[in-house]
Amino acid sequence: MLRTHHCGELRETHQHQSITLAGWVQKVRNKGFLVWVDIRDRYGITQLIFDEERTPADVFKKSLELGREDVIRVSGKVIERESKNPNINTGNIEILVEKLQLLNASKTPPFTIENKTDGGEELRMQYRYLDLRRNPVRENLIFRHKVSLEIRNFLSEAGFIDVETPYLIKSTPEGARDFVVPSRMNSGEFYALPQSPQTFKQLLMVGGFDKYFQIVKCFRDEDLRADRQPEFTQIDCEMSFVEQEDILNQFEALTKHLLKKIKGVLLKAFPRITYAEAMKRFGNDKPDIRFGMEFGELNTLAKNKGFNVFDSQELVVGIAVTGGAAYTRKEIDALIDWVRRPQIGALGMVWVKHNEDGSFKSSVDKFFTSEDLSDWAVTTQSKPGDLILVLAGDAHSTRSQLSALRLEIAERKGLRNPEEFAPLWVTDFPLLEWDEETNRYHAMHHPFTAPKPEHLDLLETEPGKVNANAYDLVLNGNEIGGGSIRIHDAELQQRIFSLLGFSAEEAESQFGFLMKAFQYGAPPHGGIALGLDRLVAILGGSETIRDFIAFPKNNSGRDIMIDAPSALDESQLKELYLKLLPKK
Ligand code: AMO
Repeated sequence: MLRTHHCGELRETHQHQSITLAGWVQKVRNKGFLVWVDIRDRYGITQLIFDEERTPADVFKKSLELGREDVIRVSGKVIERESKNPNINTGNIEILVEKLQLLNASKTPPFTIENKTDGGEELRMQYRYLDLRRNPVRENLIFRHKVSLEIRNFLSEAGFIDVETPYLIKSTPEGARDFVVPSRMNSGEFYALPQSPQTFKQLLMVGGFDKYFQIVKCFRDEDLRADRQPEFTQIDCEMSFVEQEDILNQFEALTKHLLKKIKGVLLKAFPRITYAEAMKRFGNDKPDIRFGMEFGELNTLAKNKGFNVFDSQELVVGIAVTGGAAYTRKEIDALIDWVRRPQIGALGMVWVKHNEDGSFKSSVDKFFTSEDLSDWAVTTQSKPGDLILVLAGDAHSTRSQLSALRLEIAERKGLRNPEEFAPLWVTDFPLLEWDEETNRYHAMHHPFTAPKPEHLDLLETEPGKVNANAYDLVLNGNEIGGGSIRIHDAELQQRIFSLLGFSAEEAESQFGFLMKAFQYGAPPHGGIALGLDRLVAILGGSETIRDFIAFPKNNSGRDIMIDAPSALDESQLKELYLKLLPKK
């Protein structure tokens, strides 16, 4: 070994021992006759002292040349420190250096390797290996390791078997575009990288595995956001001979176990609400329930009272902001401007101050009486001192606008406490979703999701009304998992494919293998996949998954460190039978 100890290890009890450390130079302080150097490794920082009187002259001289991030190896004696540093574990000692070896010199790093660095995000991504040396980044990755180890152990204990499924496959329709890989040996043909191992895990159930899991990379070519990467990791699971209830219980137990083990938080039974209820109460299928501000629908109270703006709209809906009656006109105007930004898209917003004395003052006093407003207050659960904010428009957009406002206000009021954990299940998703652009139905979860048995006879007549045995796990306003009970009957699967607009030939060529498998004794089965990156980020107090991925991509899907994606040379293109079209 190049060292006897690591840099976070030595204490007063090691005094007088001869030791050897190796690591990176964090800092050099030169007082002329005394030089202090902080040496750092994954485990911590230890102070080295080079003393003109006590250190061999050649070693002392070399210490004067050390620079930040040089990799060094030192041997010396552990001595008590004169001015102790209670902020670090090794703060009571220092090393009086006798030998110094420069293992590898470093150029001056482009940003400081400190907890609070001066490097911008792009620069840090370009030099990700330097960013990884910073404590917060390293701690996030160690945290991820702990979470995934805990998950593995838990699922293994519960009888799940870890099976690896292939990455070079055929398209799996999870709603995004595929990343494709050309095949050299099969000219003109392509693999798709899995958007998830969905069909394989179902085939494992046909293969009798009963309980499967895999912590697995998935690939989706879609627009990127703080909670989305083009390659991300799922905790992917499937179980045979189960009903929805069994899956919810199993994965509620896993989530509770993680919260307890990792965060020391004991969670009660997770609330369950249907998709329809989530949309009605929160305008969102992944509601943040750490705070209230639930929607109050005002159609019957606010329409047909002579206020045209409301009368012509499909939905009038409001929320009550606790303590909001104290907002100034300027503050309210700023909120109105906020909802009118193109990203939100509301046309305007009506406000009602619910004064401390129980009276009301509103932007629509001309049209509504105190009694009217008092009814609004009941519906939006407003109390004296609150502010009621009301939007109107088509139901879908208005709910989503008010949902964005609800989250924004909660954020500003500090109600989205990252150390509070509020999970819930959202169930009974619609099976299908109408897509205006392509003018046809899409599967809301994926095409293998089973319709509710009681809705089966609506499939061909009123497909939009069919609900699915599909569920999402939501944590603090983030979708951290989704799953469903699957179709295990070839005939029903065929009906769903044709509803989704696949001809019999298309269904056969894309999913024939699955329907064939279903003809050889497929057990009833279902499962779920949790987003590991999202789960780890939320447990770690953040909603940015990039911070918990060792080598993430930027918002244009690029790895700017290795410069990928990049062009292929002519010979490679030729070998793959590819010809590039000119850029548009
Ligand atoms: P779904 O598409 O809901 O389900 O994905 C499961 C979970 O994966 C996470 N996730 C992502 N995380 C980061 N970046 C992305 N681009 C990204 N996309 C999804 C989310 C999501 O809840 N095969 C089904 C699962 C099943 O039915 O069992 C599936 O993939 O947290």
